Amino acid sequence: MSTPGDVLVLFGVTGDLARKKILPALYRLVERGELAVPVIGVALTDWDDDKLRSHVADSVHAAIPSVDAAVLGRLQASVHLVAGDYADPGTFTALAKAVPEGAFAVHYLAVPPSLFGTVADGLAAVGLAERARLVVEKPFGHDLASARALDALLAKHYSESQLFRVDHFLGKEPVEDLLVLRFANTLMEPLWTRQWIDRFEITMAEDFDVADRGSFYDSVGTVRDVVQNHLLQVMAYLLMDAPLTDAADDQRDAKHTLLRAVRTLDPSEVVRGQYAGYLDTPGVAAGSTTETYVAATFHVDNWRWSGVPVHLRAGKALPVTVLDVVAVLKPPPRPLFGVAGASADRIRLRLQAGAGVTFTLLAKRPGGGDVPVEIPVTADFRQVLGTMHEPYERIFADALAGDPAHFARMDTIEEAWRIVAPILDPGTAPAGYEPGTWGPAAAATLPGPQGWVELPPPAR
Ligand code: BG6
Repeated sequence: MSTPGDVLVLFGVTGDLARKKILPALYRLVERGELAVPVIGVALTDWDDDKLRSHVADSVHAAIPSVDAAVLGRLQASVHLVAGDYADPGTFTALAKAVPEGAFAVHYLAVPPSLFGTVADGLAAVGLAERARLVVEKPFGHDLASARALDALLAKHYSESQLFRVDHFLGKEPVEDLLVLRFANTLMEPLWTRQWIDRFEITMAEDFDVADRGSFYDSVGTVRDVVQNHLLQVMAYLLMDAPLTDAADDQRDAKHTLLRAVRTLDPSEVVRGQYAGYLDTPGVAAGSTTETYVAATFHVDNWRWSGVPVHLRAGKALPVTVLDVVAVLKPPPRPLFGVAGASADRIRLRLQAGAGVTFTLLAKRPGGGDVPVEIPVTADFRQVLGTMHEPYERIFADALAGDPAHFARMDTIEEAWRIVAPILDPGTAPAGYEPGTWGPAAAATLPGPQGWVELPPPAR
């Protein structure tokens, strides 16, 4: 059993991520009674406790439409500030004084990865690395070698069981639901093999562009930003074998085994794109070859999936914002109803926006003759299950409780870097595409001449 946190220390409390995601998530946790420990914010700032508390209120109001004043008051009362430079040992001495004697601390680093080592050293120097967990934000490395180097820095002071690496897609309930849908239903799992599935298509589309994140985005691109981490984690949940038990490390073992079987990408099965106008974004280097779109075919060399391609596309400035997985089933052996090649068998797992599942079936059209027509059989999870929790609510609740299931283990991160390595920084110009379109023309037939399965619009 993991030790629950007695205090939450939030490095980067004045930053963007804290304002947009973390502080609103902490409000929700207080509301549900899942956060009852003091929160110590750390940042290089001239703020005091009062200024931090009004910042907490502003962030919560900006993100949550109807705020309960009593809940907000409880969160504000639990918040304290330790201001200082992370490179200054005095900051950590002050922090050590603020952490209650003997408390088990959860240190959350919402700071750039270049500072992870400095903060880890600072914490260790004042004895705060013992009786503690360290939670670090993505990106974890820039490639395999830098991920290992970063891990070595942290491993000086922390064991693997103390290190929680955030991938906020693992905190998305519809992503986790892939496991429940697959392994809790006899309806799904027997179909989920090369015997019945022809191919998968995974789409992560965003209808917005890089906007004010030019300099960050230009140094990463789509593959590092969302494929190496978020989408390979989704793929692992989608394709892994059943874990031995629901325990965190059994799940993570199953994901790791799956990723080991994913073949290193072949650049000839990859299309990179860049939307027109990207080069004018502030912070983007002149003549940058960073991709804002990628489509790739993955192959899984294991018993279950041999010969079943997984086509994946992700990009900015596309027509819609959606995260979607389609399993295209093999057609029945004989086209009895005159629809050769028109089999509708598809299972769509919509992960956002508007999570749900749709089985596309063929049924007889009313009237004479056996004329099959497509009918969608859909469950909208929001309607039947109610509102889901936001990813950062799950991440903080689990980090405090010490449940590592929704954090990325180092071995899966290493496999993911290995898989994408051949398409990092190819140095060639990506193909152009117009904002609001589905990426470069060359990507349209990546899954085959029939193209990608048409996506229904996202739920509002
Ligand atoms: C982040 C990426 O990790 O995930 C962003 O840096 C991307 O570029 C975002 O937009 C998507 O996350 P969500 O939760 O908004 O779907």
